[in-house]
Amino acid sequence: MTRTPFVVANWKMNGNTQANLAWIESAKPQLHAGHYRCDIAVCAPALYLTQLVDGFKNTAVMVGAQNCASYEEGAYTGEISAAMLADVDCDLVILGHSERRTLFGDTDELVAEKAKLAFSHAVMPILCVGETLEEREAGRTIEVVTRQLRAVLDVTGIMPFVAGAIAYEPVWAIGTGKSATPADAQAVHAALRAELAAYNADASQKVRILYGGSVKPGNARELFEQPDIDGALVGGAALKSSDFLGICDHANALTE
Ligand code: 13P
Repeated sequence: MTRTPFVVANWKMNGNTQANLAWIESAKPQLHAGHYRCDIAVCAPALYLTQLVDGFKNTAVMVGAQNCASYEEGAYTGEISAAMLADVDCDLVILGHSERRTLFGDTDELVAEKAKLAFSHAVMPILCVGETLEEREAGRTIEVVTRQLRAVLDVTGIMPFVAGAIAYEPVWAIGTGKSATPADAQAVHAALRAELAAYNADASQKVRILYGGSVKPGNARELFEQPDIDGALVGGAALKSSDFLGICDHANALTE
């Protein structure tokens, strides 16, 4: 089974109209349809999704959000629904990022509701799972990521993630410059795929499992060479288009 590699930028709470435009313009010559055989997406703050959808017209780049509401619609001041994301042609949404879990109270149950709603509006969820340093040192990595995965898949089933993706992001590797070793990441990705197989063996081979946590052009290749690492969710290195495209180049090389 060959899965199309998938590289996703997570801009987090960075950018502004002018800086986004500069990023799009500098990347566009390489992003025209047909240049890359891997899949590529950029996930931006919700305010800028329309700018990205317009900016990436005539390219194969997908556009994603970084969160959505766990409710369909109504009196939820400040929230943005999955239907609204679909309305502005947003393709994807990152859910369960560790920053949302630790800073904004996103529980497994909330993440499951959000994923269900997103998929029902044809916005494909990228589900993040990952252990803290304390959990890793206690030997609980597989237990933690399995719990996070099951909590969502028990509600949504596996299909939303055949279209979207799972992202393994060890919390201790996010923004620290300290990436997991390819072998350590591979071990977790293989465990996640085995867990996915319990839902549907055939579908489990189709789900892209991305690695996230201090991915840069210099370490992307060795990560992507692992059999169960199907791409990356990139934070810091995605803020500069040349670094992000450098990572995409490594993913693309695997399709040759
Ligand atoms: P960094 O690439 O900055 O470590 O961030 C990873 C991340 O959180 C992507 O979602």
